[in-house]
Amino acid sequence: MTHAKKSLLMLSLLGSGLFTGCNTTSLQQSSNLSSSTVSKYSLDFNPQNYSVQSVEVDGKKIAVRAYENIVYVANPVDTDYQIMNIYIPEDYFHDKSIGAYNAATAPIFFPNQVGGYMPGKPATLNGRGGMGGGMPPMSSRDNTAGQTNTQTNRSGSQTNSVATALSRGYIVASAGARGRTTQNAQGIYTGKAPAAIVDLKAAVSYLHFNDARMPGDANKIISNGTSAGGALSALLGATGDHPEYRPYLTALGAAPASNAIFAVSAYCPISNLDHADSAYEWQFKGINTYKNIKMSMLDYNVQRQTSDGTLTSDQIQYSQLLAQTFPAYLNGLKLHDTHQQLLQLDTQGEGSFKNYVKQFVINSAQKALAQGTDLSVFSWLTVKDGKVVDLDFDQYLHYLGRMKTPGAFDGRDLSTGENQLFGTEKIDKQHFTDFAQTHNNAANATQADAQIVKLMNPNPYIGLAQSNTASHWRIRHGSKDSDTSLAIPVILATLLENKGYDVDFALAWDKPHSGDYDLTELFSWMDQISQQTSKK
Ligand code: DHB
Repeated sequence: MTHAKKSLLMLSLLGSGLFTGCNTTSLQQSSNLSSSTVSKYSLDFNPQNYSVQSVEVDGKKIAVRAYENIVYVANPVDTDYQIMNIYIPEDYFHDKSIGAYNAATAPIFFPNQVGGYMPGKPATLNGRGGMGGGMPPMSSRDNTAGQTNTQTNRSGSQTNSVATALSRGYIVASAGARGRTTQNAQGIYTGKAPAAIVDLKAAVSYLHFNDARMPGDANKIISNGTSAGGALSALLGATGDHPEYRPYLTALGAAPASNAIFAVSAYCPISNLDHADSAYEWQFKGINTYKNIKMSMLDYNVQRQTSDGTLTSDQIQYSQLLAQTFPAYLNGLKLHDTHQQLLQLDTQGEGSFKNYVKQFVINSAQKALAQGTDLSVFSWLTVKDGKVVDLDFDQYLHYLGRMKTPGAFDGRDLSTGENQLFGTEKIDKQHFTDFAQTHNNAANATQADAQIVKLMNPNPYIGLAQSNTASHWRIRHGSKDSDTSLAIPVILATLLENKGYDVDFALAWDKPHSGDYDLTELFSWMDQISQQTSKK
């Protein structure tokens, strides 16, 4: 909808008293729960169905209308997760502006809290909101020896991204999504791939469908997520409106509206799962010790239990086999750098692509140095006259450390979280690559449908004629993150750049696997992309 048209509509709604309706702290959903024979839940946003909440940011209290637990599809399978929380600054109901935005122009911040491809709840205003999501156990691999226990939030920041967004004039809409362990009362798995991305798309459609009924501009939806949530954020951006998702959306009774978004923020996306095993071994082959980190949740705090191990000779052999397959895949992508130099690897895994990856680490160190970080402890960096001029890649990899055993994602024994993601209604865990199926060592292992594996990978959809791919992308990955290979975010960013999208990609210096650690910079970028485009 055009801004002018939306302004008019907002004015008429204000005039009608619809946006100044009574406050209610009672349970939501009177309209959404109304049943009909066709659809169980209404897809019409009800502006009057809110509670008054507030949040404090930098000592300033912000009044907010909270629309919580909105079921965003007409025929949900799981109303614990297929729900969305929408938070709107009270000012927008009084014809006021916040910074550069007003009720017609405010962008919609769309953070998800998915972690580990587990079911994810929508973010809340003062609760777990925007802390980078819940971190579930990632692996059923047993860790027994040498355990240490640390508690961290996934976010390096104390500030909640939901509160930050509202303080800066954004509308916040956060959707829950089904995940790999979701089951119904009959024991049928209902959250296997591609359920999570279908759910987030359906929530986006709800926002487009209701664009005229609520403040905010559905043409400015900016998604955010970390890790599995980062991968889903990237998937949303890559695959907007692609017809291959349509049958799933139709089955859920998703709103008949676009599911495209304006921009993507993705922290350490665990994406491109079907090539992530070979990318991991390309990077870590030769590093035969590992620190497996098993994650679990306690009171929404992430527990990271580490256990040390050494690869068996069988695992070392499998690492080499996987690593050998990576150059052919990478070369086939025909990526190039900003000087149009082709990025390639030889059969040993050496070449321009490796130098290109290395340069991102150097750039990250350079930025940290410029900000006053003492780099002298990183003996593998060469710093001359205030410039980071080189790094020893092998030593860098030792600092980084291997976390996963080969195959890191498609486990030969079906023991990973990703094996569980690619199960079916009746089968909990499956392989999702030909390679792991061929080298399988679990009993009765089956393999996921190739089309379903494709639906979980953003890369093949970027820039297709049938995809409405997001225009703006911000991708961050920690330089001390070994949950996936650096090649994974580098390939994603470069594919996008090569196809002409606006990409801000960097490695965050010395950051482990985490997100939302640089909210000031994230929101500056969001403001810049939201305000630079011409008014529609
Ligand atoms: C996440 C981490 C992983 O190592 C992985 O394989 C999948 C997901 C996560 O933190 O969401």
